[in-house]
Amino acid sequence: MKDKIKFIIGRVKAGRLQEMWRQTVWIYHYARRYWLAMIFYTLLGMFGTVVSLLTSMVSRNLVDIITGHEAGRVVQTFCMMIGLSVGATLVGMVSDYAAGWISMKVDAEIKADIFEKILVTDWESLTNYHTGDLLTRWSSDASNISAGVLSFVPNFIIYFFRFVSAFAMIIYYDASFAIFAFLGMPVSLILSRTLMNRMVNNDKRSAAMGARMSGFNQEAFSNVQIIKAFDLVRLYIARLRQLQSEYISMRLDFKKMAIGTSLLLTTVGLLVSYASYGWGIYRVWSGAITYGTMTMFLTLSGTLTGTLHNLTTLVPTAIGLTTSAGRLMDIVEMPREDYSHDDEVERFWEAHRAEGMSLCIRDVKYAYQNGTLVFEHASMEAHPHEVIGLVGPSGEGKTTMMRLMLSLIAPQEGEVLLCGGDAGDKYGHRSCEAGDVLALTASVRKLFSYVPQGNTLFSGTIAENMRNVKQEATEEEMIEALKLACAWEFVEKLPQGLYSPVKERGGGFSEGQAQRLAIARALLRKSPLLLLDEATSALDVATERRVLRNIMQDRYPRTCIVTTHRPTVLSACSRVYGIRDGRCVVLSEEEIGELVRGF
Ligand SMILES: Nc1ncnc2c1ncn2[C@@H]1O[C@H](COP(=O)(O)OP(=O)(O)OP(=O)(O)O)[C@@H](O)[C@H]1O
Ligand SMILES: [Mg+2]
Repeated sequence: MKDKIKFIIGRVKAGRLQEMWRQTVWIYHYARRYWLAMIFYTLLGMFGTVVSLLTSMVSRNLVDIITGHEAGRVVQTFCMMIGLSVGATLVGMVSDYAAGWISMKVDAEIKADIFEKILVTDWESLTNYHTGDLLTRWSSDASNISAGVLSFVPNFIIYFFRFVSAFAMIIYYDASFAIFAFLGMPVSLILSRTLMNRMVNNDKRSAAMGARMSGFNQEAFSNVQIIKAFDLVRLYIARLRQLQSEYISMRLDFKKMAIGTSLLLTTVGLLVSYASYGWGIYRVWSGAITYGTMTMFLTLSGTLTGTLHNLTTLVPTAIGLTTSAGRLMDIVEMPREDYSHDDEVERFWEAHRAEGMSLCIRDVKYAYQNGTLVFEHASMEAHPHEVIGLVGPSGEGKTTMMRLMLSLIAPQEGEVLLCGGDAGDKYGHRSCEAGDVLALTASVRKLFSYVPQGNTLFSGTIAENMRNVKQEATEEEMIEALKLACAWEFVEKLPQGLYSPVKERGGGFSEGQAQRLAIARALLRKSPLLLLDEATSALDVATERRVLRNIMQDRYPRTCIVTTHRPTVLSACSRVYGIRDGRCVVLSEEEIGELVRGF
């Protein structure tokens, strides 16, 4: 039984080491580009060690000259010592700069890469993370890694070199002193084991706490209006206080550990130095060594204890780094979207630019990762110059259908396709059975314009928001799109017109104005497929009718799908699908009439 447990523990440890190895490799693939700088930093560190060892040798000579054991020129030796000290300081400064340079570069590298990876990660997997958590991982964990990237290999080499060279020097002058190098070792080793376990724990707790804090703040700041409206100000302040007190007690735990560790180390350091001091006095008294050699040994034993401690604390540092790397790898290793069909999509668009393209959903089944089944055997079609309505009670799957069309999620069964041209016309009806077909991937999104539910404007100006989706858009094009969306009538009256500021999430505009701006943005893109998800819900009936009429009268060969409950929209649709029991059924005139009357 005991053996079995040991075996299992061994296996687990092996797993963790393997995991750490994978994380280390991951960290170093970012640092790889800076290998030259890292070698420079390492060499500089080693050079610094040589300079400081030389300093202690010269200082030994100086003491021996002064105490009369050796004849020599005091002033010259003294100047040499000062020169070496200044040299050591300069080397320290350059190496500090190099370390800063490397860590900043690696920081930028990691952050840019993670930023990109977050954006191309499968949308649904990403939504499992709170944005506060993502932000903490992106900022703190990446900074952790970049700040400590030198600790692994370069610092290990430097410390190891320092230890070995100081040790060699001691052996050279008086081997009996070597024992003091190892006096502090058991304590350092025990400490590093305890530190290691605590570190892993602390790192995880601290990261989780950081994520909670930033999530809380972010949500509170972006919902100030709701917090005020529901009179939650005091409650939220109390919640922050609670979080802060948890944070403080956690930090104090860390602090206690740090103080305890340093107390222990200082005691050990003092004991070791007094022991070597005593031994030195004895050796000087018995005439085995000079007084100068003794002072040198005292310095060296300090170097040895310090370096040994540095070496052992590299382990917890490394663990901290790998923990952070693991948290970032969680994100990086989520499924990615497929952007590899850009050329194919471009060709497809070129081929069908004139006549537009159809969207075909065939026998689709889709359930969210949490198991919510939304569609089963769902099929629908939409063709150029059509406006297709999609209706259904709240929570029935309208937005989900748009996500399928945008390839934000992929069906578990069935297919979502784009078909070029009026392939089915020769059979007397339009269908997706024949013709040029393109399967939907992330690359296909360049063919879509989308007006989502809710306010989705960015902060900046109106023009910046518009140009976000079409960088080269001229003022005339923007104004034309704004006119189609019935937004020009209010933008025109703003003192700064197109260049009026938009605050975060469309702040500064009414809900209906923001919706019209979002529609204008979508129209400006001139894409063959337009998806409107309750996009006119905040407009008055007359404006809504005008917007829809403008979209329909626009001669651009557009395939338009709208989700809505509003009768104005339904009566303007070429065909209306209702979502029922996970399927899409075409509604008859009577059924639409009933919906309109029941509104
Ligand atoms: N990200 C998600 N993860 C898990 N389930 C989800 C997710 N988004 C939506 N759902 C579920 O899928 C179903 C369909 O949601 P969807 O948003 O498509 O409805 P909807 O028809 O657009 O509703 P509404 O008219 O209220 O906008 C709902 O039961 C909802 O709870
Ligand atoms: Mg919806």
